[in-house]
Amino acid sequence: MSDLFRLDGKVALIIGGAGGIGSALTLGMAQHGAKVVVASRSGMDDLGKFAEEIKVKTGMDAMAHQVDVTSEESMATLVKAVLARFGALDILVNAFGLNIKRPALEYPMADWEKLFDVNVKGTMVACKHAANVMKERGGGTIINLSSVRGIRGFGGGNSAYCGTKGAVELITKALAIELAPLNIRVNALGPALIITKGTQHIQQNPELANKYKAMIPMGRLGLPEDLIGPAVYLASDASAFQTGQTLFVDGGATAS
Ligand SMILES: NC(=O)c1ccc[n+]([C@@H]2O[C@H](COP(=O)([O-])OP(=O)(O)OC[C@H]3O[C@@H](n4cnc5c(N)ncnc54)[C@H](OP(=O)(O)O)[C@@H]3O)[C@@H](O)[C@H]2O)c1
Repeated sequence: MSDLFRLDGKVALIIGGAGGIGSALTLGMAQHGAKVVVASRSGMDDLGKFAEEIKVKTGMDAMAHQVDVTSEESMATLVKAVLARFGALDILVNAFGLNIKRPALEYPMADWEKLFDVNVKGTMVACKHAANVMKERGGGTIINLSSVRGIRGFGGGNSAYCGTKGAVELITKALAIELAPLNIRVNALGPALIITKGTQHIQQNPELANKYKAMIPMGRLGLPEDLIGPAVYLASDASAFQTGQTLFVDGGATAS
């Protein structure tokens, strides 16, 4: 039964794989037996160092490669490099993304476009190029990063971010339907607030932290590690008959 969750022999590409959530997911994939590829725009020094850490911690092979998901050319180069090194691409985790919070009445359209370019176009570019390889190899699994803000409206300058995550929700479902005949499953993770470098100021401000905790029935903020089990589940045969779904990892925030 435990083998259901193993990823032995699989190659997992984690884009944004050295980020707050991505670094936990990269570690989790390797701990469960996958060879991992960590990619983002960061310089190869940083990415390469992170890949080396993963090798040391897990004993699994790991490689680093630069990519900007807003560029099809860049994504195509990454996929070629993965195939050249490992000969396969079985799991794609789109752990990249950003938020730019601005009041709606003043939202700069340049920031709006930047958010949609990375969060929405980037998701499609990554899925498209990975799925073309998965198709040739008889299947694969894709995990997008949605958010509780993909199905709930939030104030506080989140209009663009909510819009991008709503789009990720439906891209996930539409691709799941279109790619199902190719044995490619497409699901998403929907976290509530997760404490990372970018959000640790919230944890450090008791008033703000309590405001967020009040929205979470389990009464605590999320950690990147909370996403490892759900991600491994969606990547593995444990979720073999599941596609087009978002697994909300939110301490019950969306239960009501
Ligand atoms: N943290 C939360 O509370 C939370 C909650 C719900 C959902 N999420 C979602 O989870 C995902 C990861 O969030 P996070 O908190 O881990 O953010 P993070 O720590 O800022 O990591 C984001 C990663 O995305 C990469 N990236 C950004 N633009 C890119 C591009 N154009 N091409 C390739 N890589 C790019 C960044 O690396 P480079 O700068 O090197 O490119 C970075 O590694 C996002 O989609 C976010 O919306 C986060």
